[in-house]
Amino acid sequence: MKILAIESSCDETAAAVVEDGRKTLSNVIASQVKEHIIYGGVVPEIASRMHAQAISGVTAKALSDANVDLGGIDAIGVTYAPGLIGALLVGVNFAKGLSYSSGKPLVPTHHLRSHIAANYLTQPSLEPPFLCLVVSGGHTHIVAVKDYTEFEVIGRTQDDAAGECMDKSARSMGLDYPGGLNLDRVSKGGNPDAYSFPRPRVDGSKYDFSFSGLKTAVINTVHNASQKGESLNVPDLGASCIKAVTRCLTENTLAAAEEYGYKKIALAGGVSANSVLRADMTALCAKKGIELFMPELKYCGDNAAMVASQAYYEFLSGNTAGPDLNAYATMEI
Ligand code: KG4
Ligand code: ZN
Repeated sequence: MKILAIESSCDETAAAVVEDGRKTLSNVIASQVKEHIIYGGVVPEIASRMHAQAISGVTAKALSDANVDLGGIDAIGVTYAPGLIGALLVGVNFAKGLSYSSGKPLVPTHHLRSHIAANYLTQPSLEPPFLCLVVSGGHTHIVAVKDYTEFEVIGRTQDDAAGECMDKSARSMGLDYPGGLNLDRVSKGGNPDAYSFPRPRVDGSKYDFSFSGLKTAVINTVHNASQKGESLNVPDLGASCIKAVTRCLTENTLAAAEEYGYKKIALAGGVSANSVLRADMTALCAKKGIELFMPELKYCGDNAAMVASQAYYEFLSGNTAGPDLNAYATMEI
């Protein structure tokens, strides 16, 4: 079964064709990063407009790269929540149009479920149940993936996401958007013990996270140095920040796996591309005899192949929609 999927929840306009949820036939991404760099983050209005400009061409390329036309597609998947509402609406309306004109079923797909499904594209052996750490720009969740379309959130951030913490810390150090990615790059070789940051804990909820205090601590370190006219060692500060974030992510995830009896852990979301998180998780899981699954780097950030993968399982579960499908800025997984 071939699914064409559309993704437009943030600043990538993407379309892809995936067969039976696992085999990527095409994966096209038009990134808007260059448009948002000067603002230091995504400007929703610009994002919507650029999606509208790019979506037709991106979809046509996804079909031609996969060597199919719309007639050879069995269903159309689309990200409908959560995300920037104006951006989501572009993808949802475009997918509705395609579905209506072609008579193919429309499959609404949750963005975080899709990030989890990114693992299925390169890990043929991965099947639920497993535990997944979902770390994106806006979300930080520990999710029990009980089945392809059945999820339970075991832990979540109570304030900022890990990605937001890294993005804003990076910005305070003068690094370009997307901060997390650039922070990872410049921090290679930095001393992760040069600056000591607190290990935030959340009262009463063992697996929850809190990253806003950490973000403020990093930003304050930068401001204090600049007020005193001191120069900062950006690689050291970046490495220390990444270590502080990664420590929370790995500790909580491994503790949850132990308590809930999971022997398989997956990573998902843009921050799962982080080199330290990947290395630390690999080492810790090996030590504990836990099997670790990570998406290929090209599937960590927003893309439509992961949407097509999840849409396949949603379709099998009967989760289709009609022309009244709407987009939602927030939605539980
Ligand atoms: O999943 P994603 O592409 O978009 C959302 O759904 O939010 O995640 C974007 C986030 C941004 O915060 C970006 O800085 C972060 O992923 N990111 C990274 C790395 N690559 C992307 N964070 C840390 N290290 C990276 N290598
Ligand atoms: Zn995402």
